[in-house]
Amino acid sequence: MLLKIPLPNSPTCYKNFFISIILLIVIIYIYQLTTYTKVNLVYYDKVRLVNLHKLPVKLLEDSVKKPAILNKKCTYWDCFNLYRCGNTGHDRITVYVYPLKKYLDGRDASSVISKEYYRILEAVIDSKYYTANPNEACLFVPSVDTLSQDNLQTNFTTKILNNLEYWSGGENHLIYNMIAGKAPEFSPVVELDVGNAMIAGADFDTFTFRTGFDISIPIFSPVLKLAEEPEINYNRPWFLTSSQISIDPLYMQELEDLQAKTSNILILDSCYYHNYTKRCEISTNQPYDYPQILQKSTFCTIFRGERMGQTALLESMAAGCIPVIMMDSPIMPFNDVLDWKRAAIFILEDHIDNTMTVLRKITPQHVREMQKHVRFLYNTYFSSFKQIVETSLDIIQDRVFPQWGRVYDDWNVSPDDRTSNPLFLPITAPRAQGFTAVILTYDRLESLFILIEKISKVPSLMKIVVVWNHQRKAPPALSKFPQIAKPISVIRTKANKLSNRFLPYEEIETEAILSIDDDIVMLTSDELEFGYEVWREFPDRIVGFPSRTHIWDNVTKSWKYESEWTNEISMVLTGAAFYHKYWNYLYTTALPTGVKNWVDDHMNCEDIAMNFLVANITNKPPIKVAPRKKFKCPECTNNEMLSADLGHMVERSQCVDFFTKAFGRMPLQSVEFRADPVLYKDPFPEKLKRFNNIGSL
Ligand SMILES: *[C@@H]1O[C@H](CO)[C@@H](O)[C@H](O)[C@H]1NC(C)=O
Ligand SMILES: *[C@@H]1O[C@H](CO)[C@@H](O)[C@H](O)[C@H]1NC(C)=O
Ligand SMILES: *[C@@H]1O[C@H](CO)[C@@H](O)[C@H](O)[C@H]1NC(C)=O
Ligand SMILES: *[C@@H]1O[C@H](CO)[C@@H](O)[C@H](O)[C@H]1NC(C)=O
Repeated sequence: MLLKIPLPNSPTCYKNFFISIILLIVIIYIYQLTTYTKVNLVYYDKVRLVNLHKLPVKLLEDSVKKPAILNKKCTYWDCFNLYRCGNTGHDRITVYVYPLKKYLDGRDASSVISKEYYRILEAVIDSKYYTANPNEACLFVPSVDTLSQDNLQTNFTTKILNNLEYWSGGENHLIYNMIAGKAPEFSPVVELDVGNAMIAGADFDTFTFRTGFDISIPIFSPVLKLAEEPEINYNRPWFLTSSQISIDPLYMQELEDLQAKTSNILILDSCYYHNYTKRCEISTNQPYDYPQILQKSTFCTIFRGERMGQTALLESMAAGCIPVIMMDSPIMPFNDVLDWKRAAIFILEDHIDNTMTVLRKITPQHVREMQKHVRFLYNTYFSSFKQIVETSLDIIQDRVFPQWGRVYDDWNVSPDDRTSNPLFLPITAPRAQGFTAVILTYDRLESLFILIEKISKVPSLMKIVVVWNHQRKAPPALSKFPQIAKPISVIRTKANKLSNRFLPYEEIETEAILSIDDDIVMLTSDELEFGYEVWREFPDRIVGFPSRTHIWDNVTKSWKYESEWTNEISMVLTGAAFYHKYWNYLYTTALPTGVKNWVDDHMNCEDIAMNFLVANITNKPPIKVAPRKKFKCPECTNNEMLSADLGHMVERSQCVDFFTKAFGRMPLQSVEFRADPVLYKDPFPEKLKRFNNIGSL
């Protein structure tokens, strides 16, 4: 049993208590023995386990092998033998489990295995890493229970381990331990001489944990199932609950001080009748079911007991309660790969009196995210022995085969929240490739030529593609176009559709597209080049100049399009924007038919549709570049920035509302953010700035 029995505070009940504890231990021991023989062992036939009384007996003579002392300096590089893993032809680690034996030594001490350790062995054998062949094994798990220091006979277990067939000083052996050390020292590391073996332990502190070598695991609690709730309940009456039994009186005092100032703090301790699944409120003695009560609290404190590892951690997580870790230098479970800042609050023991200030500062939205994350971590890594064992092996797998290793998001982002980025681009797109300007035009030759002339001066421009949308009139010959140093392609379309601007033309050879209307002639070469620089940092987003936002109209109960100056933006119009050409492909092949037809029927809102499409895939907002707000020009006629007429705005609002229904949700994300060049507006000589010609509105 892994449950820690509460220590009562008053000395008078010590005697009774110890008698009951001894009784309990005896009962547990008998219970373990009986359940042990009752377990249907046929299930384990992969290691050919047999009934206990049929187990082969290994008699340990007074061992001649001197046990190898635990090597505190081990690192992955000098204690782990990688050559045992790579040369077996497998692309994953292989784990061998020693066959169960009944060990005896001269003084007839005999080994027992707890149900919990049994489940660990079972999980290893069921995992994809298991091998029955010790000669091709990369990792070894002894069939000797090392889970709880309270249960094991130190010298005897050390002797068994050191006499294992493939032990060789503990090399590549994995020792699972949840409760390390015994009273009075409570060593944070299992008190066994295991040489160079790795320890998957739950009690480590920063001084004993061998980073990159040991694995930090949680202490499992047998009552987790009672704490689990089917749905996350976000409305919880208690703000903070402390439920650990017999915590340090100093911490208890701090908690009571906090409670004196805030009403919704619940402090529980064991009830006089000492039942693990009952806790009583410290002043009123009102009993509560434990761990179910944790489902009623937003935050749950986790203190250091005699041991660092606490069953309360998983119990809180099972109940969806955000752990508030009040320990200095804890080693959180699976700290190699899990980012605990997303799921827990850490408070130094000296700062416990500030707890409420810290917790109150967390916004309700952040609290919800943490609650969701707690649940994700619990469901994915902690809810069973199987998950705990598999995760520990997964971590070793990633160490041995880093080339196939999981990355931060794989471990820390729930699949529901993962945004897929379909562009197989490096984090920053290369500058060298440049961009292709795609200009949609009808027949406004004058402004088209001005525009071509202007953008030809942008250094990163590679090519101009003119999409000629006038079917009855032919475009002028190329010789009539401005003579520029970059190639120009003219594409004649078959129908005057706005979606023509988003077709994935093969003439577009670069990853980046500058989509620009033929009347946007006011953007400077600096603005455009800088816009491209920004796009390279955000290659999956629409990056550009005219920005808009969407707002919920609580009178008409519908979404509205907004072009006023606001602090937030959620769209960047494709009248002047950079984006990846993949979105052209997606617009053409995957835009909901209703949206496509709407755009063609109304000859409007193709730019809004593109913003919906990209945001729906990436869950990210677009990026507004440089301060320019007005894109007016005297000769422009059907530019929407100019036509601030009411009808136009009404139609644009209808688009936003209709698209929301067609996508089944409002995908647009808002952002209060704009990209300006580094020295923009700094009091610094203009001529020394990289992008000077930016700043006009
Ligand atoms: C365990 O071994 C140590 C030294 O090897 C010895 O000092 C100690 O007495 C032993 N403990 C028991 C309970 O046999
Ligand atoms: C502890 O409480 C639970 C639930 O009330 C009960 O089922 C169980 O029998 C109790 N255990 C002991 C040892 O009293
Ligand atoms: C609509 O929103 C405004 C501003 O946010 C608010 O003042 C008003 O009370 C809201 N009206 C309704 C009916 O919710
Ligand atoms: C929008 O996003 C949802 C959720 O990710 C997805 O199921 C749906 O297919 C997307 N729609 C389009 C048109 O991309």
